[in-house]
Amino acid sequence: MAQEFFESLVACIRKDAEAHPGQSIDPEVLREFMGGAHSTPENAAAAPRPTPTQTPLPSPRPAPVSATPRSIPRPIPAPAPFPGREQPQNARIAPAPVAMESIHSLDELHPAVLACSRCPLAATRHNVVFGEGDPHAKLMFIGEGPGYDEDMQGRPFVGRAGQLLDKMIAAMQFKREEVYIANVVKCRPPGNRVPSPDEAAACIGYLKKQIALIRPEVIVLLGATAVNFLLGKREGITRLRGKWLGYDGIPVMPTFHPAFLLRQESAKREAWADLQQVMKVFGKVYRRQG
Ligand code: URA
Repeated sequence: MAQEFFESLVACIRKDAEAHPGQSIDPEVLREFMGGAHSTPENAAAAPRPTPTQTPLPSPRPAPVSATPRSIPRPIPAPAPFPGREQPQNARIAPAPVAMESIHSLDELHPAVLACSRCPLAATRHNVVFGEGDPHAKLMFIGEGPGYDEDMQGRPFVGRAGQLLDKMIAAMQFKREEVYIANVVKCRPPGNRVPSPDEAAACIGYLKKQIALIRPEVIVLLGATAVNFLLGKREGITRLRGKWLGYDGIPVMPTFHPAFLLRQESAKREAWADLQQVMKVFGKVYRRQG
């Protein structure tokens, strides 16, 4: 089985290399992403590529070592909701700290999100995880919400899943600092549970504003939560992944969340096929060196 898998991958890569001479990727980078006991760089199989339908395609900080604190610091108390702002329709959601229409840059949005106490996650967070990267990024990755490491450091995707995301980004021939990384919710749901619909509803306006300000050429949605809450899709990620969707005129590629890929190594093959579709939009094609 492993041998068969390996051989089919090698065949795919050869085909890709023949079709796109002159472009290459360091096999070490891909090996890093595909890593694990049962995989090799040749796991870079191209799965069948569905044609984009909804949205036309455009033409073509180093992650710190996450230090585990000896004792868990107490969450920083969230500020009280700002008075005098419009009440949202859902009475369980507190008003936003500032009106989104009055914000014109990520630098303006950042302090508003830091001050947010719209939902109960504010009470248990240690840090708001706003998002980070190039404010003019062509490529944006959106995950679910901060985990333990992200909550402690106030930065997205810095834990184990983040280390895998770094490898995925590198395998796509991007640098982490060239892309933008954000989440559906900016505060950690306790125990890393999936954010509730109310929590996501309270926070999604910040993500939408980030997207509106960055206007990336492509968005990669990592996992079902991002697809469900940004696009309102109900289907699971296994059905949605690998097929182009759209958000506000921006092509969107859903794929597996890196945390899932850590548990399910065999799914990396499909994730890599999804990422290769994104690479093609930017004129980047995988082929082995040499
Ligand atoms: N998982 C996410 O969805 N986001 C992060 O920032 C980290 C882990």
